[in-house]
This record gives sequence, structure tokens and C-alpha cells, in this order.
Amino acid sequence: MGTPQTSHVLSLEGVSKTYDGAQKPALDNVSFAVRAGEFFSILGPSGSGKTTILRTVAGFEHPDEGKIVMGGKTVNGVPPFKRDVRTVFQSYALFPHLTVRENVEYPLRMRGEAKAIRSGKALEALELVEMSTFCERLPHQLSGGQRQRAALARSIVSRPTLLLLDEPLAALDLRLRQQMQHTLVALQRELGIAFMYVTHDQGEALSMSDRVVVLDEGKIAQLSTPREIYFAPSNEFVSRFVGRSNLVPVKFETAEGGAIGKIEGTGVPGLLAPRAGPARMAIRYEAVQISTLDGSQHPGTLRGVVEDVLFMGTNCEVNVRCGALNLIGTVPAVRESTFLVGQPVQVSFDVQNTQVFYD
Ligand SMILES: Nc1ncnc2c1ncn2[C@@H]1O[C@H](COP(=O)(O)OP(=O)(O)OP(=O)(O)O)[C@@H](O)[C@H]1O
Ligand SMILES: [Mg+2]
Repeated sequence: MGTPQTSHVLSLEGVSKTYDGAQKPALDNVSFAVRAGEFFSILGPSGSGKTTILRTVAGFEHPDEGKIVMGGKTVNGVPPFKRDVRTVFQSYALFPHLTVRENVEYPLRMRGEAKAIRSGKALEALELVEMSTFCERLPHQLSGGQRQRAALARSIVSRPTLLLLDEPLAALDLRLRQQMQHTLVALQRELGIAFMYVTHDQGEALSMSDRVVVLDEGKIAQLSTPREIYFAPSNEFVSRFVGRSNLVPVKFETAEGGAIGKIEGTGVPGLLAPRAGPARMAIRYEAVQISTLDGSQHPGTLRGVVEDVLFMGTNCEVNVRCGALNLIGTVPAVRESTFLVGQPVQVSFDVQNTQVFYD
């Protein structure tokens, strides 16, 4: 990857873990490295092993095989409190009988720092998350979002090299979640601490991260930048899990200089492959173009009938039945819907924005 080993704050080398009594491993030969100051996300469906990675890095779980390396040292046997990491959990776990300030000071008190230094650092951390006016409140006197900010202040006050966050925004409403996403990105940049952020929300992972690792049943499905993952998913799992795609059968037939793809018997211009044979193609909703029938059918378009239309706010998802296939495309939402159920339409694709997978 060209990055020297020393700039990694964490690496997992062939980490596997099977919980007692489980049939399948929760982690299966997982290897990746997090760079210093990076916003790194772990994205995957429920049960894919995200929390297990976090708990293994924090030291609450132990790998059956493989190494966890931090700051150049293998930390497999090192207890949690001796690792240079902090964790923010989904439930914010503030001490209920301590004020916000006392909560934030707590990790420093444990380290035996002097009172004056403690309160200075706590105030600074609270200012970073815009919570300095709530210093003297108790946790039950705060909203969910404010509690999450206080928990965040507590986890950054001791300036760990790596901060682990396990779905920290899951309990918040949409508006607060979006606001906190901005707060987290700004905070991460300002502090320069590496964040390892666990989420099952692809939007969150794509919008905030420098790099994302996608997990599928304890294995790495892809590790790349958000744009690569979105535009060049390396397998079918990633293309299904990230973004919204139609997955359609395509048949490549021998033509001059290669093979041309046919969907539902219609040759699609520009859809070329090096060899003939059956395959599947992932077509993003936004790569499906739907237009009204204007009498002349253009080459490479499929004819269909609108089956349903979902109004999503900024756009509409139009589900079109084309022979044996259903294809969903997004169109900009306008006040009076352009497409009505039962309407005949034609469908074409932006082939640049598709991915072909052979068996
Ligand atoms: N303490 C445990 N004992 C036995 N099995 C466990 C334990 N913790 C997790 N598992 C199993 O390990 C697998 C991975 O779990 P993990 O909690 O890491 O998933 P996750 O990706 O964090 O899921 P979610 O998005 O639901 O939080 C799951 O199949 C889960 O049932
Ligand atoms: Mg989890």
C-alpha cells in the first residue's frame, strides 16, 4: 500500500475467533491496518462480526488465532486498561451520579492527574463537542444527543491514539444523527486521533470515512475508499450491501472483438465483455434511465410498464416490469409525478455505472 508500517496505529494480522459453542467463526482470518489519524469504518450487516473486532482490539475478547499489533507491539495478552484506546458504546454509559464535568474528568482522575490539569483538559474536551455550558448537569438532565456528546468528551479527554466507536449514533433521531456525523468528522480532523467506527449504516460509513472495510460473515469482503466501494464493488455482496442496485441476469454473446451483453434478449450498446457466457450485472438505481414512450424505441432500450412508484423526498423510485425482470430506477421528484402505475415506459442504462459478475 506504500504506507510505512510505523504510521499504522493498529493492525490485525490473520485474526480468527469462534465463540464457545458457536458453529461458525465470528471472525475468519481478518487482516487490516488503521493508519494514524485516519477515519476508518467497519461496515457490515448484523452479526457480521463488527463488535467482535472492536472488543478484540479493546482487549475484552481474545483471538483464537492471529495478532493484534498496536504501536508496533503485539498486544494480544495486554489487559484493556493498558491499551492506548478508548471506546464509545451505543449506550453512552455515563456515571449517573456524577456531573458532566466529573464524568469527563474521570479517566484523568484514574490516571492520577492533578485537579487543576484535570479540569482544564475536561473543559477543553467539552468545548470541542460544544458542551461546555452543561458542565454542572447530571446525565439525566441531558437529551440523548447531549449525553452522547458528553460520552464523546470523556473518551477523547485522555487523547488516546485510537478511538473505537460502536454504532454511537444508533439511538439518536435522524436530524441529530446527521448533526453528530458532522461533529464527529470535524472532531476527528481537529484531534488527529484515528477513529475506528462501527456501523451497519452504509450512508454513515460512506460519508464520514477515509477508508471502509466491508464485513461479510466474519470475512473481509472489501477494504477501500468510500468511492471505490461504491463505484467499484469487488463482489456481489458489496454491490448488494452498499448503495441500491438491481441485480439482473445478463448473457454475453460473441461479437466482433469480444462479447456483447444482452438483457431480456435486448443487446445493450456499450455493454461489452472479454468473453461470452452468462453473468449477473449490478445496476445502481441512479444508472437506470426511465423515459416515457415517444413512439420510437431507441436501440438498447427495454420496454416496460410502471409497477409502482415510491416518493422518497428528493427523488422517486420507479419500479418497472420489463418482461420477466423488474428494474428500479430513481428519477428526480417533482410535485406532480411524471410516472404513474400502469404507464408504458422505456428503460436504458448508464453502462459506465454497472458491474458485471461472473459465477
Ligand atoms: N458472547 C458471544 N457468545 C457467542 N456468540 C457471540 C457472542 N457475541 C457475538 N456472538 C456471535 O458472533 C457473531 C458476530 O457478532 P457481533 O456482535 O460481532 O456482530 P455485529 O456485526 O456487531 O452485529 P450487530 O450489527 O447486530 O451489532 C454473531 O453471529 C453473534 O451471534
Ligand atoms: Mg454490534
